[in-house]
Amino acid sequence: MKQPFIIKTGWPEHPEEVARFLDRNFDFDRMTTALLEEKLFADPQADPGLCFSAYHGEVLAGFLFAVRRDIRGEAFGYVKLMAVEKAHRRKGIGTALYLAAEESLVAKGATKIRIYDVPLNYFMPGIDPRYTPALCLAWKMGFTQFGESVNMVADLTSYDWSTEKEEKILQSKGIEVRRARKEDKDALFGLLEEEWLLWQNEAGMALKNDPPSAHIALKNGRIKAFSLHNANNKGTGWFGPMGTHADMRGLGVGSILLKRCLKDMREEGHRTAIIPWVAPVAFYAHFVDARIERVFWRNEKEVLLGK
Ligand SMILES: CC(C)(COP(=O)(O)OP(=O)(O)OC[C@H]1O[C@@H](n2cnc3c(N)ncnc32)[C@H](O)[C@@H]1OP(=O)(O)O)[C@@H](O)C(=O)NCCC(=O)NCCS
Repeated sequence: MKQPFIIKTGWPEHPEEVARFLDRNFDFDRMTTALLEEKLFADPQADPGLCFSAYHGEVLAGFLFAVRRDIRGEAFGYVKLMAVEKAHRRKGIGTALYLAAEESLVAKGATKIRIYDVPLNYFMPGIDPRYTPALCLAWKMGFTQFGESVNMVADLTSYDWSTEKEEKILQSKGIEVRRARKEDKDALFGLLEEEWLLWQNEAGMALKNDPPSAHIALKNGRIKAFSLHNANNKGTGWFGPMGTHADMRGLGVGSILLKRCLKDMREEGHRTAIIPWVAPVAFYAHFVDARIERVFWRNEKEVLLGK
């Protein structure tokens, strides 16, 4: 029997067509051409050999983009984006796209595959369980859930986010807080290298903005803490990441840096800030009244080399 669709590998000729396709097939997310281009082409390991489009005749019926990364000594493959046109679901297109991606990821050395929670540049930090068919497909393909992540949301309209008073107190303790400059890159990357290597990509993206969408705290001229926004998922009101060096914690530096970013975001016209892939839920709930807005299930599959 003739296969009702074919799968093409490579960058889409018309990213705007793929963006519209994803936008109408994601029930809980929006997609724009600019955002799609950031997800595909601004990925530090963007590989057209891991970009798959399913066509039903001339019509785009499915799309999957994956990346291959070594993370903390492990060889991961990640599905970063995936959707099938509503009218063409349950015809095996999702399975065919996934299997094409898995084969290529294994050929490129991946030993574990995860879905969506891609460090460095990601769309969402796991599968939102309301995309239940995606979970069913993942489990059928041999994935198992190993964890959960959450996105929080902060209402930017409820405070003015000014931090001048608190900053004066820090100043009296020899701590300077200011917006990061492009020339702070090496020093900021140095701090990240110690504890948060995986965040260098987002820091680099934030420093490229004009003005840089990053704030830092310095003691004796050394950067000891940072916060940033509008790096991953640019233009969507995406905060983070942020971090304070262990020897500066508990002084209020983190909350000031967080509020500085929220103030920027409000001034850019956002009404809410998404605080994604959160670990310290209580910190954000306490300082900026953030609430858990979405939950994501993290799924993983071990794949055998040379399978
Ligand atoms: C997830 C998605 C890509 C699946 O695409 P698809 O082409 O319909 O998938 P397939 O036809 O290959 O289905 C494969 C298997 O997945 C499971 N599955 C898919 N849809 C399902 C559903 N609605 N209910 C239960 N199981 C489902 C089944 O086990 C199915 O096998 P079967 O039809 O033999 O029972 C599609 O539903 C989609 O685009 N959803 C919206 C976007 C999305 O969720 N993206 C991923 C976000 S993490």
